[in-house]
Amino acid sequence: MGALDGKTAIITGGGSGIGLGIAERFVREGAQVVLAGRSTQRLEAAVAKLGRNARAAQTDVADEAQVKRLIDSVKELDILVTCAGGAVFGPVEQVPMNSWRELFEGRFFGQLSACHYAVPKMKPGSSIMFCSGIAGHAALANYAGGAGLCGAVNAMARSLAIELASKGIRVNVLSPGLTRDTAIDWGVPSEAVPEFLAGLSNNIPMKRPGTAGDMADAAFFLATCAYATGMVLDVDGGWTAV
Ligand SMILES: NC(=O)c1ccc[n+]([C@@H]2O[C@H](COP(=O)([O-])OP(=O)(O)OC[C@H]3O[C@@H](n4cnc5c(N)ncnc54)[C@H](OP(=O)(O)O)[C@@H]3O)[C@@H](O)[C@H]2O)c1
Repeated sequence: MGALDGKTAIITGGGSGIGLGIAERFVREGAQVVLAGRSTQRLEAAVAKLGRNARAAQTDVADEAQVKRLIDSVKELDILVTCAGGAVFGPVEQVPMNSWRELFEGRFFGQLSACHYAVPKMKPGSSIMFCSGIAGHAALANYAGGAGLCGAVNAMARSLAIELASKGIRVNVLSPGLTRDTAIDWGVPSEAVPEFLAGLSNNIPMKRPGTAGDMADAAFFLATCAYATGMVLDVDGGWTAV
């Protein structure tokens, strides 16, 4: 018996990195998962890894009609996890404004619209887990738009937790610190990524980046703890404790 036997989860960004780690954990616990992302190749590889309890649904979460189609593809929904999105790094005067607008289209409005369409399909006992990042409260240079986005997601989740409590739906945020082995674009050449991550790890009391498995442990807690709502869970090796 798995803790998520008989549950249906939609995981946006489930084709790689943190979303895929969460999908692996949820499938191990007995859930049926629907993985959403833009690249069919990436999604198919993920489904091949996870087996018959996973299916792919090609979706661009920046497009509301596609988000609606994704949610419409399930009859009922027990767990919504929204990890789709990327990051934009760079000095404020250099990053083109459009890059931040695009970031918000997918990573803010993508999460809000998934929630908008999902709530009518959720029974009491269901849960929503947004994804932000520690930049929502740990100041990081060269990340102004991303920091604003993470703060906005955290605020949105707290508001929704209060609003949806009467429907028995819990709402929380996974707020990852530095996490390795994902497809995220760090804005440095791929050969420089190990050195880049090692440099940032100096800020982390545990002196290492997190893994997708670490994030999946936290996501499993948020999906199963019946008293957890309105939480922003920083999973960051102690970065924000300093
Ligand atoms: N890695 C970290 O250190 C870290 C730290 C804090 C927060 N985060 C956040 O955690 C989330 C997961 O990131 P990750 O590190 O696991 O990186 P990742 O491996 O790149 O995962 C992001 C996933 O989102 C999908 N995606 C991106 N834009 C999308 C869109 N418009 N519509 C649908 N799918 C989309 C990508 O697939 P397609 O490109 O195929 O669509 C990809 O599978 C992101 O929101 C990221 O910003 C990451």
